[in-house]
Amino acid sequence: MRRSIFLRRSISFLSTFLFLSGLFVAQNAAAQAGSKACIDCHSKTSPGIVHDWRLSKHSKNGVACPTCHGSLHKTAADYAKAKIPTPETCAACHPKQFDQFKSGKHALAWVAMKAMPTIHWQPMAMIEGMKGCGGCHQIGLKSKQDIMEIKKTQPGFGITSCDVCHTRHLFSVKEARSPQACRTCHTGFDHPQWEMYEGSKHGVRYALKREGILPRDAAAPTCQECHMANGNHEVRTAWGFLGLRLPPPGDKQWAADQVTILKGLGVLDPQGKPTALLAAVKAADLVRLTAPSWQHERDRMLTVCTRCHSLAYAKSQLALGDKIIKDSDHLMAEAIRTVAALYKDGVLKKPSYYPYAYPDLLTFHNAPTPIEQKLFVMFSEHRMRTFQGAFHANPDYAFWYGWSAMATDLTDIKSMAAQLRRQKASAGGI
Ligand code: HEC
Ligand code: HEC
Ligand code: HEC
Ligand code: HEC
Ligand code: HEC
Ligand code: HEC
Ligand code: HEC
Ligand code: HEC
Repeated sequence: MRRSIFLRRSISFLSTFLFLSGLFVAQNAAAQAGSKACIDCHSKTSPGIVHDWRLSKHSKNGVACPTCHGSLHKTAADYAKAKIPTPETCAACHPKQFDQFKSGKHALAWVAMKAMPTIHWQPMAMIEGMKGCGGCHQIGLKSKQDIMEIKKTQPGFGITSCDVCHTRHLFSVKEARSPQACRTCHTGFDHPQWEMYEGSKHGVRYALKREGILPRDAAAPTCQECHMANGNHEVRTAWGFLGLRLPPPGDKQWAADQVTILKGLGVLDPQGKPTALLAAVKAADLVRLTAPSWQHERDRMLTVCTRCHSLAYAKSQLALGDKIIKDSDHLMAEAIRTVAALYKDGVLKKPSYYPYAYPDLLTFHNAPTPIEQKLFVMFSEHRMRTFQGAFHANPDYAFWYGWSAMATDLTDIKSMAAQLRRQKASAGGI
């Protein structure tokens, strides 16, 4: 009796299986047939693309050219009809990664870039053309309006988001798991995480593993193991890029210093009242807005560290990072107040494009005076490096490129301010 139920179940399972796999084979065949023309022609016009695709898991699973590009383009002349895939194209088959990605910070990268007040001053090629800011911020999701703007500059490339870590047309998971996949963007001036990681003990061990000097399974965390644990595509950290928190941390002096920095960013006006920019900061999730949302990210990170370190060790290491943010905020706030006093005393005049007679860190390198350009570099380059270096276990970045450079900036800013005051006085000003 039992045996016959088992048998019947097995038969029904088997026929479902055969039916489904038959369907899959049929679908594959259809896709392959539809793609034959694409492949034949593109093997000649762009063999590298076809070769990469042949090596991919997609080609082995019947995901072919028309699946992502449609089948409207049929000849060498009508290629403008080829569809450029969006993240929704990938979401049809990879809904989990899409949903995670959508709830993380990467999804907001295009919005955050566009929210910068001075973005319109940058050349189009740098933004929609993806040669500068846009080249990195293309990772973010785009609205229909955004895509229309991009298409005014170029045919509409750079809208897929999903292809920045596992690149076309291999879409390799091994590539995405390598720290090098993050390198193109997490580098350079204000976020050199790659350089910091490469020189840290974590990164050195990773390199030695790859060279075969350390065993293949030796412990050496990658960017992905810390920031995309269990393949979770929702990336976000506690302090974020700006190293700020709203409302600011409990400590009185620290809170006052963070308020000064928020004034410098124009998120608060010189009197400390929120400005229109606060809405943009909230919309782009630039800072964690509640203590629990900050703590949630911190706990997520601690779970990662404790795979290899003790909880006490990991907690103390991250707390030292927090302490370094506090100390650098103190230097930063003093520098901002030094320049703000020049506006208050009429030594510097408010430029027409400034919202307030107060230094504006968001004018970037377009800041109107050398002293304010120094202030921008102190904030974006040196303050960032101080805490980013601390969190990424790189003493050289934390100290020499970070803290030490901030101290030098402050000395220079004070000396430049005194000089400007002397010039004003000798010109009969104050
Ligand atoms: C008869 C040859 C031919 C066939 C068939 C063909 N293509 Fe193309 N395709 C081209 C040429 C030529 C270009 C333009 C290349 C260039 O600018 O160098 C192109 C461009 C493209 C582009 C880039 C679009 C752009 O705006 O630059 C995509 C994507 C593309 N093809 C996909 C496909 C797909 C998918 C198929 C099958 C449905 C297909 N092609 C069939 C020749 C062909
Ligand atoms: C899994 C989806 C996917 C498949 C399958 C796929 N492509 Fe693409 N293709 C992309 C993405 C993503 C881009 C880049 C779009 C962007 O820049 O936003 C792209 C870009 C292109 C381009 C223009 C960019 C360049 O480097 O010149 C061509 C041409 C192209 N694909 C041809 C093909 C051909 C031919 C096939 C089949 C052999 C194919 N694609 C299969 C996703 C796919
Ligand atoms: C029609 C369904 C379909 C679409 C659309 C699709 N994929 Fe896939 N993808 C698959 C299948 C099937 C596999 C193979 C899964 C496996 O072997 O476990 C795969 C595998 C992958 C992998 C893992 C490759 C590896 O090395 O293990 C990545 C990454 C990936 N796809 C990314 C993308 C991206 C990015 C897009 C959009 C540009 C996309 N896919 C569009 C079906 C699809
Ligand atoms: C194409 C460029 C690009 C690539 C590749 C890229 N990122 Fe990013 N990443 C960004 C941008 C831009 C932001 C800022 C987005 C925002 O917050 O608006 C960001 C933000 C982040 C953040 C969030 C920081 C915060 O504010 O909390 C983390 C963590 C991160 N990336 C990790 C990674 C890792 C790990 C990789 C590699 C697997 C990677 N990224 C690959 C461009 C990139
Ligand atoms: C080399 C790649 C790259 C370039 C070029 C670039 N960015 Fe970024 N941007 C990033 C990365 C990566 C992050 C996240 C870094 C971090 O969290 O430490 C980021 C963060 C930001 C953020 C903060 C987002 C947040 O939510 O915290 C803004 C705003 C921003 N960039 C605007 C711009 C603008 C405007 C330009 C051009 C003037 C630009 N970026 C150029 C890669 C780049
Ligand atoms: C910041 C880099 C980055 C971006 C952007 C990104 N991925 Fe991934 N992706 C990864 C990493 C890292 C892995 C490997 C995760 C792991 O360890 O299993 C991965 C793995 C995958 C896999 C294979 C999963 C498996 O278990 O084999 C798929 C499918 C995938 N991603 C789809 C997407 C889609 C769809 C998007 C866009 C919505 C996207 N990815 C955007 C980094 C990225
Ligand atoms: C050992 C774990 C670990 C590794 C490896 C790691 N990070 Fe981080 N990352 C952290 C921690 C911890 C923070 C700070 C989290 C917080 O705000 O509390 C952080 C912060 C960040 C931030 C936000 C700004 C900052 O730097 O403080 C970005 C972006 C980022 N990491 C990207 C990367 C990239 C890209 C790599 C690889 C090149 C990488 N990380 C490697 C642990 C790691
Ligand atoms: C996959 C394992 C792994 C993970 C995850 C990991 N680490 Fe490490 N970490 C190591 C190894 C191995 C070393 C090198 C040990 C040594 O220096 O003796 C190291 C070294 C360090 C160092 C440098 C110590 C020194 O003497 O220079 C610090 C700081 C550190 N880790 C902090 C962290 C923090 C914080 C986290 C979580 C954000 C973390 N690690 C996650 C394995 C890991």
